[in-house]
Amino acid sequence: MTQAAPIRVGLIGCGGYGRQHLQRMSEIRAVELVGLADPSTKARALAREVVEQPDLPGFRDHRSLLLKIQPDAVVISTPHTLHHRQILDCLEAGCHVLCEKPLICSTQDARDVIAARDATGRILGIAYQRHTLPPYMYCREVIAAGAIGEVTFVSCWQAQAWYDLSRGTWRVKPELSGGGQLNDAGSHLLDAVLWMTQLQPEVVAAFVDKLDTEVDIVSAASVRCRGDSLCSFSIVGNAPLPGFGVWEDIVIWGTTGTLTIRNMQDVYCLRPTHPQQKVPRREMPKGSGPDTNFIAAIRGAEEIAAPAECGLSVIQLTEGILRAAESGKAVKIKQ
Ligand SMILES: NC(=O)c1ccc[n+]([C@@H]2O[C@H](COP(=O)([O-])OP(=O)(O)OC[C@H]3O[C@@H](n4cnc5c(N)ncnc54)[C@H](O)[C@@H]3O)[C@@H](O)[C@H]2O)c1
Repeated sequence: MTQAAPIRVGLIGCGGYGRQHLQRMSEIRAVELVGLADPSTKARALAREVVEQPDLPGFRDHRSLLLKIQPDAVVISTPHTLHHRQILDCLEAGCHVLCEKPLICSTQDARDVIAARDATGRILGIAYQRHTLPPYMYCREVIAAGAIGEVTFVSCWQAQAWYDLSRGTWRVKPELSGGGQLNDAGSHLLDAVLWMTQLQPEVVAAFVDKLDTEVDIVSAASVRCRGDSLCSFSIVGNAPLPGFGVWEDIVIWGTTGTLTIRNMQDVYCLRPTHPQQKVPRREMPKGSGPDTNFIAAIRGAEEIAAPAECGLSVIQLTEGILRAAESGKAVKIKQ
């Protein structure tokens, strides 16, 4: 049997999270790492160290990586407002793309990259890891099977010391971040709820506090979805969380049962046919990770776990929350 050629992968953005992608990609047998792009010489050097490949070609600009190395696939892990141009350039160069969250920073940009994906026939996935984590996969399946009935209410919150951690970085510069914690880690929470429940937000009212920064730090949003289900999202960006990087709880009420995901780990399920509360891991689907799933999707062995449409839904809601907070009124979510 002939062995399939390796998938030649490049990394755009060699910072903290980019290096984690690189490490994980280096552990996938079907992958050959072929190059790096980052304007920072130090970041490129650290990336080479992580995978012990001192000769891995590096470039300051992603276009040089695309032109000179012609990767089959790229992972983008850069400041948020750069994603749009980088995704378009990569798709146009014929690469499959796994992009970090948030996919893009405006609804129009989401539509652009989806159109480019469709025109090029490449895969465009978002590195939303909750789509490959057992607790979230389990809840999505339970809801899709109708096992808690119709979803009527979701209450969720995410807390992080984001304000302290982001001080002085690109994350508090709107021209690079596209927004604060709502658009950054908060993007995971919005996506996880919409992806698991398939709710379609229609109207939102919200309050946002920027504290002394230019971006949202604390957000509270109430959302009415098609069919009159309600959701409440809380993003607490100035939380004192000694010992925890982030804490995230989601409670989903249906007409016949309730699901709770406690800090991304444990699932509690209450329904008449399912008397136990904490769901044992063995009842949950097997998880993987965005990098493994991306490579399997390129090989045609799996669907991409978080397609670009999830990024579109999230940015539509994000923009709605910010518009509602600014106007002080409930606003319709633009479709
Ligand atoms: N999925 C998750 O849980 C998770 C966690 C952390 C970060 N992220 C995401 O990963 C991405 C990167 O975040 P990070 O924490 O690694 O930030 P970081 O600041 O550690 O790294 C960003 C890197 O991008 C580089 N960069 C800047 N401009 C560039 C350009 N034009 N081309 C290429 N590289 C450029 C910087 O030099 C830096 O090395 C963001 O989208 C972020 O939201 C996701």
